[in-house]
Amino acid sequence: MATTRRLTSAAIRARKGTRFAVITAYDAPFARCAEAAGIDVVLVGDSLGMVVLGYDSTTQVDLEDMCRHAAAVARGTARACVIVDMPFGSYETSDADAIRSAIRLVRSGATAVKLEGGVAVASRIAAIVGVGIPVVAHIGVLPQTAAIGAGFRRKGDREMLLADAHAIEAAGAFAVVLEMVDAQIAADVTAAIAIPTIGIGAGAACDAQVLVMHDVLGLYPDAPPFAKRYAEIATVATDALRAYADDVRSGSFPQAPSPTNPAQADVPIYVAATPPSV
Ligand code: KIV
Repeated sequence: MATTRRLTSAAIRARKGTRFAVITAYDAPFARCAEAAGIDVVLVGDSLGMVVLGYDSTTQVDLEDMCRHAAAVARGTARACVIVDMPFGSYETSDADAIRSAIRLVRSGATAVKLEGGVAVASRIAAIVGVGIPVVAHIGVLPQTAAIGAGFRRKGDREMLLADAHAIEAAGAFAVVLEMVDAQIAADVTAAIAIPTIGIGAGAACDAQVLVMHDVLGLYPDAPPFAKRYAEIATVATDALRAYADDVRSGSFPQAPSPTNPAQADVPIYVAATPPSV
């Protein structure tokens, strides 16, 4: 049986200088939508905490959460490179802990892992890369620690950001997220390193852009100002659910059984051998 090969970290690295889109996903159906839309780099971000699990920051998200949602996204995709965030607390304590956490994420379906920090985590990145696991770095605003002290102000220290970028590249990261970095500095970083930069709120000069799926689809009420909303899915979903509830209340759903009403046929449900297509 022919198997579809997933896009590798090397293939993503080779996209340096070309523009490509990255989107977050947290479950199989939306991951399937992303792939069907031609987006082949999917990030299982720890933004999971806010946009899906209802927490107020990423710090409550743990490794079990990330493994479960990474597995769902992997099951919902065939070709995509699935990058999975290492959650707060899963890599800070030691190289050994970081490697153990990264292995669990790979076993759950991650093609690569992402962790936050620059110079300060360069040796951690090297340790994970050293056991053969591809790593994406994340510099600029670091949401895991921003939430507990450092804050979410846009980053504009050019020398520090360049030092971070060079350190993570030397450590073996194959790409780097630049979050809320001054646009000119993001352009300078993009020109200074040989791995793709993936911007979020960091201007147009990055090699790639990433957005949170729920911001793009209008499913999260507190989207940041730099996010662009392409749909109003929360409104569509609410309207559909209201119509369903109205039908139940009025008695127009379900319909009475009849030979012309196949919805009432006695067939098994949820037993598809292949995942339903979008
Ligand atoms: O958790 C996340 O979704 C992220 C993106 C904002 C880059 O890290």
